[in-house]
Parts: sequence; structure tokens; C-alpha cells
Amino acid sequence: MRTALLGATGLVGRTMLALLETRAWVDEPPLLLSGARSAGTVMTFRGRAVTCTDAAASGIAGVEMALFSAGGAASRVYAPRFAQAGSWVIDNSSAWRMDPDVPLVVPEINAATLPRRPGIVANPNCSTIQVAAAVAPLQRAFGLKECHVVTLQSASGAGGRARQALAVELQACLPGLREGHASPDQTGTGAFPRRLALNVLPEIGAALPDGSFDEEAKVVRELRKILGLPQLAVTCTATRVPVWTGHAAAVRCVCGRAAPRDEAIAALRAAPGLVVADAAHGYATPLEADGADPVYVGRVRGEQGRPDVVLLWVVADNVRKGAALNAVQIADLLAARPRSV
Ligand SMILES: NC(=O)c1ccc[n+]([C@@H]2O[C@H](COP(=O)([O-])OP(=O)(O)OC[C@H]3O[C@@H](n4cnc5c(N)ncnc54)[C@H](OP(=O)(O)O)[C@@H]3O)[C@@H](O)[C@H]2O)c1
Repeated sequence: MRTALLGATGLVGRTMLALLETRAWVDEPPLLLSGARSAGTVMTFRGRAVTCTDAAASGIAGVEMALFSAGGAASRVYAPRFAQAGSWVIDNSSAWRMDPDVPLVVPEINAATLPRRPGIVANPNCSTIQVAAAVAPLQRAFGLKECHVVTLQSASGAGGRARQALAVELQACLPGLREGHASPDQTGTGAFPRRLALNVLPEIGAALPDGSFDEEAKVVRELRKILGLPQLAVTCTATRVPVWTGHAAAVRCVCGRAAPRDEAIAALRAAPGLVVADAAHGYATPLEADGADPVYVGRVRGEQGRPDVVLLWVVADNVRKGAALNAVQIADLLAARPRSV
């Protein structure tokens, strides 16, 4: 199947390319596309050199499966073009996620919403994917009335250049650390709203009039859409932490009925894509999740006086399950369909 990657040189794009190497339905090197800045970058696919071209100057004839990770502005321009040319488009940006005609898909939860004919399919926000994956089995087992989320998101969630900026900031802190202080300078590199090194920032995305930030609003509306619960009470506080790769989330679920701990663990264990830790010290951290496919769930527990509440600690590699892997899993499902449909 002829494939294309838009944003091929980015963190997500490079991971998608590596995942596509393992897929039998990808029988020739993908068409690699980027912006003008990265055009000419030579990448490898199954040992063959493939040169990235500027999307603005590239033809798209014959492409059947396009995976996008180039940001919302590029997606708004190119997704309709590829779809009109007859290709599936799986888009990692937020441009199409809330379009009522575009499914927002986590394959383990709502693969049934994938359309029959080529068009745009949206990949959810990275934090939303891992929270949805952990909460959906509880929804199926006990019903779900409320979901309250606090995220701790790594630097990689802001892209490859931002992650490199964290390394620069940490280097700048080293002389102060050797003298026993963390340096009070808050300016950092400018890649984050303030210095991220040795810090926590309760701000991701644009500020909204209601006092929240865009990342928090994405989790709220996307979770409702994926779970098919438009009225679900959801809150989110999203924070950026000085972690290289891997997002964590503390999640409080108010279920529709009592959810005893052992039943909650059994429901989570039965769900595909999850690795569930029962033992107190068995939880995963972003370091263990970095480079791994599962969504890790640990610290499963109740709340005193509230038999309907389940608390979770959820960790995943935001670049893999939070973006590239989820997109490629969607592509796997679409590629398995008869071509004539
Ligand atoms: N990082 C994550 O954890 C994560 C998770 C979920 C979703 N996403 C989404 O995935 C997308 C990419 O994220 P990333 O972390 O991979 O970012 P990144 O490392 O900054 O890479 C961005 C890629 O997009 C290309 N690009 C930018 N503007 C373009 C344009 N106008 N036309 C064509 N190509 C363009 C860049 O090429 P140039 O170098 O030429 O500009 C580069 O290849 C974003 O929409 C992001 O929100 C990321």
C-alpha cells in the first residue's frame, strides 16, 4: 500500500516511520514530507535511504494511506487534499478532532467509528489517549459519571526541538547545582512558558478565557467524544514536568455503581493494551514507559467513604501510544479492509 508521512522528520514522524518498517502492508518506502526547513533530510526505511521532500512542492498521486504529524496548520491545508485524492488521512494534530464528521479513535475503545471509505481520521491528544485507555474498561464495567485528571507531561510532548531545549536548560543549571542551589532564573530557553529544568509548569497551550489552558480543554472534550459520553463531568489540570519522554496522569473516576478494588483491577487486566500493576510498588514511571507500547496502570485504589470512586496512576510513552503507535494501529485496521470498499 502506498503510504506518505507528513512531518516525517519530527519526533512523532520518525517513530511512525520506524513502526511502518514492521508492517507487512507497507510494501515500498513511504513518501516522506516535511516543511521547507527539513526538506532534503535523508532518512532510512528498511535499510534504504529515502529523502524527505517539501510538502508544498510534492505530488501526492497514488498515495493510499497518509499519516500526518506536522501540526494543525499543515493538517488543515493538506488533509483535505489527500482525502480528495482518495487517501486515508490519519492526523495527529488537533485540527480535525472535534469535527463531527471526523472520528476520533483509540482502536482499543472505538474502532467501530472508523468510516468505510477513505477520509480523515483524527488521532487524539497524547494525554487523552492514555487516560481514555485506562478509563474505558471502568466505564464498561461500572459506568462512568465523572473523570478528574491531573497530568504530568514530558518535554517531548512539545516536539523534538523543545525536548532538546530541556537538555540545554538542565546543562545551564549544573554550575548552580554544584554550588548547592537550583538557580532562581526563570527565563529558560523560551521553548516553554518559563524555565522547565528543575521546575513544574501548570501551563500547556494557549490561555483560555475561563482560566484553563488549551491542553486541559482538549482532554475534556476529547475524552467525552472518545467515550461517547457528551455530558461526562471531566476536569483536567495539565502540567509540564522536566521529564524527557513519557506522560503520567493521576485520575479520579466516579463510577455509576460501586467499584471494588479487585473488580476494578480485573476489569483493567482484561482490557487490551494495558499493563496493570497490583502490588504497591509495581507502578510504572515515565522512565519505564519510554520506548514501550503499553499504557501502564498502577496505584489502583478506592476513596474512603466513596465505594463508587476508583483512583489510578496512568503512564505511557506519549510519542508512541500517545501519537505514532495509536496512528499506526488505526492504519493497520484500515489497511486490512478490502480495497474495493
Ligand atoms: N510529541 C508528542 O508527544 C505528540 C503527541 C501527540 C500529538 N502530537 C502532534 O504531532 C505533531 C508533530 O509533533 P512532533 O512532536 O513530532 O513535532 P516536531 O518534532 O516539532 O516535528 C514537526 C514536523 O512537522 C513538520 N512541519 C512543520 N510545519 C510543517 C508544514 N507547514 N508543512 C509540512 N511539514 C511541516 C516539521 O518539518 P520542518 O522541520 O521542515 O518544519 C517536522 O517534520 C503535532 O501536531 C503535535 O501536536 C505530538
